[in-house]
Amino acid sequence: MSIIDMRLSLAACLKKGIDSINPEAGLSVAEIADMFEYPPDDKLGDLALPCFKFAKTLRKAPPMIANELSASLEGAEGVAEVQVAGGYLNIFIERESFARDIVAEVNSKGEAYGRLTVGEGKTVVLDYSSPNVAKPFHIGHLGTTVIGHSLKMLHEFAGYKCVGVNHLGDWGTQFGKLIVAYRKWGNKEEIEAGGIDALVAIYVKFHEEAEKDETLEDQARAEFTALENGDEENLKLWKWFIEISIEEYKKTYAQLGIEFDSYAGESFYYDKCAPVIEKLKDAAITKVDDGATIVDLSEYNMPPCLILKRDGSTIYATRDIAAALYRKETYDFDKCIYVTSAGQSLHFAQWFKVVEMMGYDWADRLIHVPYGTVSIDGAKLATRTGNVVLLKDLFAQATDKVLGIMNEKNPELPDKEAVAEAVGVGAIVFHYLSNNRIKDINFKLDDVLKFDGNTGPYCQYTYARCASILSKAGSVAEPCDYTDITEEEYQLTKTLSRFPESVESALDSSEPMMITRYILDVATAFNRFYHECQILSCEDEKVRERRVALTNAVHTVLGSAFGLICMKKTEKI
Ligand code: ARG
Repeated sequence: MSIIDMRLSLAACLKKGIDSINPEAGLSVAEIADMFEYPPDDKLGDLALPCFKFAKTLRKAPPMIANELSASLEGAEGVAEVQVAGGYLNIFIERESFARDIVAEVNSKGEAYGRLTVGEGKTVVLDYSSPNVAKPFHIGHLGTTVIGHSLKMLHEFAGYKCVGVNHLGDWGTQFGKLIVAYRKWGNKEEIEAGGIDALVAIYVKFHEEAEKDETLEDQARAEFTALENGDEENLKLWKWFIEISIEEYKKTYAQLGIEFDSYAGESFYYDKCAPVIEKLKDAAITKVDDGATIVDLSEYNMPPCLILKRDGSTIYATRDIAAALYRKETYDFDKCIYVTSAGQSLHFAQWFKVVEMMGYDWADRLIHVPYGTVSIDGAKLATRTGNVVLLKDLFAQATDKVLGIMNEKNPELPDKEAVAEAVGVGAIVFHYLSNNRIKDINFKLDDVLKFDGNTGPYCQYTYARCASILSKAGSVAEPCDYTDITEEEYQLTKTLSRFPESVESALDSSEPMMITRYILDVATAFNRFYHECQILSCEDEKVRERRVALTNAVHTVLGSAFGLICMKKTEKI
């Protein structure tokens, strides 16, 4: 029985007890199952029920409730012992059968273990990464990229159909600038060879030159207007700039195992804005203010949402509204999730409100997931394009450093470069996702890359350790005999049983951190087991068999969990 099932079956027994104290208590089995806690110390049991939660409905003191309810758990399946401690009911699970069932369940379900069904039949659109073409793809995008993709993986794991959209910043006046800059200082070969860096370089040069020559800005505006009006040469250049950029983004995405379902960026909504403006006018919520069209949001304590500039052109928010309408129509989403830095929180709050004012009842299905800033210490990375750290440079440096360590420690490792990349990039992702997403973080690359401590490499190493044991062990047999299970074995199985719950809480809070922490718990419990219990060298065949089975279950769960946070797995390190 999994821990979720265990909670439910205990809750069913408790419900009888509760109802007999007060037939009008009206608590459902699911509600009771949600009330269990994990005691801080295992000596206090495996599960605890804080009975003060029933004090109101049952009109009794918590210790009395605990006493009375303990009787309803007598003889409950899978329970070894129940203790009353103050207002708590502490439950000790029957270890042998619990371990046997959980490990057998993981090993029979394999990658399906931990999957949820809440999302079945529902679609989620996830809008993430979304860099601005011609501007550097930098460390500030790490958050949206990896949080966004983790949320996508989590939703898929929970049964949702997911559509990952890269809402590229591929429209706007910067393209006028880029076109002018390209014609003046760029050439095809250089851009083709240099990619985004070369584009950014001429873009930077444009701004430097524009300080001296005021006419440049006018020229850029004129080129952008020409682009808007369908000028063929400009359109060709614009498309080319975007192609070059996407090609390069894809290299970084591949390092993270990310693929998008759509690259429909802002430009895609260029011709979809006019009907939106009509709808806004029909809903009579727009106002003209100093020539610009706005929606007044003072009633909601927000500054107005700008819809059209004075020259009649659309802006970021207009295109976001058009995109939301398009996505609802195209995908009929249950939720549409936007992952951006917290700096854009107001922007999303404003236009979400506008969608609501337009009368769309699905406005509350638009969800903004913000995150804090990230910076790096001690790495010589912020050089190439001024003050920003490019994501690809960060990943390359991490990979190089890991390669250096491997050349020292394990020079014969096959496919060393790929392993170093998985470990180096994974280290950054793991560290980044170890924190509450809203927190601003700063880190040192060397700390993140350590093989000991709460790091990604430590977890990947643990995974590889399991793989190595399994390759030596041969086959896995199930179910096994857990007679005389050791403390370490039991704690490890208990940790494995918590995987579905961790997925659930990561989803509910949009916090991949719940998975990162869970991975650390598994790695720690496994390493304790590994150091205390003989596995392959164990002479008792039955015990060896179950320990191999347990190792296989850890390998499976870690592998699934890595996938949920964009961390690649490596069978050998
Ligand atoms: N391109 C924007 C930026 O880099 C992020 C876009 C986020 N998605 C959206 N639908 N607004 O700031």
